[in-house]
This record gives sequence, C-alpha cells and structure tokens, in this order.
Amino acid sequence: AKVLVLHGPNLNLLGTRQPAVYGHETLEDIDDALRERAARGGWEILCRQSNHEGELIDAIHAARLDGTAAIIINPAAYTHTSVAILDALNAFDGRVIEVHLSNVHKREAFRHHSYVSLRADGVIAGLGSQGYLAALDAVMAG
Ligand code: DQA
Repeated sequence: AKVLVLHGPNLNLLGTRQPAVYGHETLEDIDDALRERAARGGWEILCRQSNHEGELIDAIHAARLDGTAAIIINPAAYTHTSVAILDALNAFDGRVIEVHLSNVHKREAFRHHSYVSLRADGVIAGLGSQGYLAALDAVMAG
C-alpha cells in the first residue's frame, strides 16, 4: 500500500529554523527515517514539501487517484488558515493523520485552532520528528 507524507510551508528550513522550537533535524533526515521505516513495513511512500497552498492541494488530489491509502500531513501555518486544504482532504477517502512537530496548544492562541483537524482521523503534536514515525506506524498497522 501507499502513503503520502506532505509537509507545508517553511518546513524546508527545518534544522536551521527556530531549532529551540522545531529541533535540529532537517526535513531530509525526517524523510529518510520515514522512507526507511516504510520500506521495512513493505509500504510505498512519497514525501513532498511545498511552500505553496495550491501545490499541497494538487498533491492531495493526485493521492485520490493513485491508490494512496493514507496521508500524513503537517500543513504548518496552513493548518490555521486553509479551508482549501481541508476541502481537498475531505475529498480524499483514505486515512488522514495530522502531525505537528511542536505542541501547538502550548503556543500562541492562533495556533490552537486547526481546520485540518476537522478531517484528520488522528492528530499528533509536540513529539518532534517522532510524531511522523508514530503516524506512519499507525498507518501501517491499519
Ligand atoms: C507546525 C506548527 C504551526 O503552527 C507552524 O505554523 C509551523 C509548524 C509544527 O510542526 O509544529 O510551521 O505545524
């Protein structure tokens, strides 16, 4: 089976972006760990990052058509603003797991609301890069 991992805006800067909040690992480190774990579980995985809302939406649309069973998404700042990403995820039939590196509930009030959580089957926040691996384990466990 196939899983799509989507990283939203600014996550390409991981490792150098506010390391006290987001850690020292790069996005490539995270994706490498995910690819390795998916391969061990016999799953196909596609990892994508975009700073553009429409590109994230296009990737979700592609996942509707190519047999993707689940989407693991860190929508980053679009979490708190994007009805369009919520709508795209609502048009996807598989599982959706929302991941945040930081504990958004411990931060500014504007990070406490997530449009994507209205669709997500599960939400993980505050576990850093381990959150993505936990999400992948949950997806592969079915
Ligand atoms: C984030 C939390 C968001 O509030 C923020 O805009 C991000 C990253 C996280 O992974 O903790 O860019 O999604």
